[in-house]
Amino acid sequence: MESQGNFAYSIADFHRVQEIARAEAGIYLPLSKRNLVFSRVSRRIRATGQDSFRSYLDYVTSKAGQAELQELICVLTTNVTQFFREKVHFDHLQQELLPTLATRLRHGGRGRLWSAACSTGQEPWSMAMSVLSTLPDALHFDMKILATDINHAVVETGRRGEYWLDDLQGVPVHWRDRYMDTISADKFIIDEEVRRLVTFRSLNLNKPWPFHGQFDAIFCRNVVIYFDDETRNALWQRLAERLVPGGFLYVGHSERVDALQPCRLEVVAPTIYRKKD
Ligand SMILES: C[S@@+](CC[C@H](N)C(=O)[O-])C[C@H]1O[C@@H](n2cnc3c(N)ncnc32)[C@H](O)[C@@H]1O
Repeated sequence: MESQGNFAYSIADFHRVQEIARAEAGIYLPLSKRNLVFSRVSRRIRATGQDSFRSYLDYVTSKAGQAELQELICVLTTNVTQFFREKVHFDHLQQELLPTLATRLRHGGRGRLWSAACSTGQEPWSMAMSVLSTLPDALHFDMKILATDINHAVVETGRRGEYWLDDLQGVPVHWRDRYMDTISADKFIIDEEVRRLVTFRSLNLNKPWPFHGQFDAIFCRNVVIYFDDETRNALWQRLAERLVPGGFLYVGHSERVDALQPCRLEVVAPTIYRKKD
């Protein structure tokens, strides 16, 4: 048992957190994250008035501690993101998917995009701006973007849609002028038109999903890096099932779908997959 800061923290405590993260969220915490886990969980121990790791972990694994369990998962997630991150995906969306989708929408069809680990919203808002730049009248059609994340706090930040100027580096200035309103010299908010395209929800990708229906494109980027192989492969399979034939799956720059055949996916570019017809 070692004592770091205020609370005694043993390797057994770390293993318990490791197991909770795996079972609840599919997140694998390597031993190298031991100190990070200590500081993040300590915040929750203080916030809940518990006096040790042990009592806190007993609480979150009890029936009464289910809401706090979600807070624990929130502090264990990594939420780094930015507007138009891995811009090649947004270029592909605009050049390859949206023109075809626009034709289908104009003929009474529907368009559905999903940002499956949306963090603080930069990804789905970038998708929405891309849609509106290709299809300025998108709101007249059956076009929707779903934005989900396991962390309810980042989902709320995304839904609010307020960002500091420093966060907007990837946003072309003329898009910022067109798709955001100014709050102050250094703060901006996503405008009403863009907002109407996107719905934010809390969702754990590794639990059953409370919706049916398929998507024309799914962005699932920089999240499976936190999962083990089994969890990752199962998720690719489930996501592929939710793609319409010809739909696209976009994954993070260091991620890859290995089992293409069972998912009926083909590679169209590094980190971009297309569901076979
Ligand atoms: C590094 S961010 C990536 C954000 C964005 N997709 C991007 O590429 O910029 C990873 C996100 O995955 C979310 N996440 C982790 N495990 C999850 C799970 N089981 N279900 C849904 N989201 C999860 C985290 O809360 C975090 O916001």
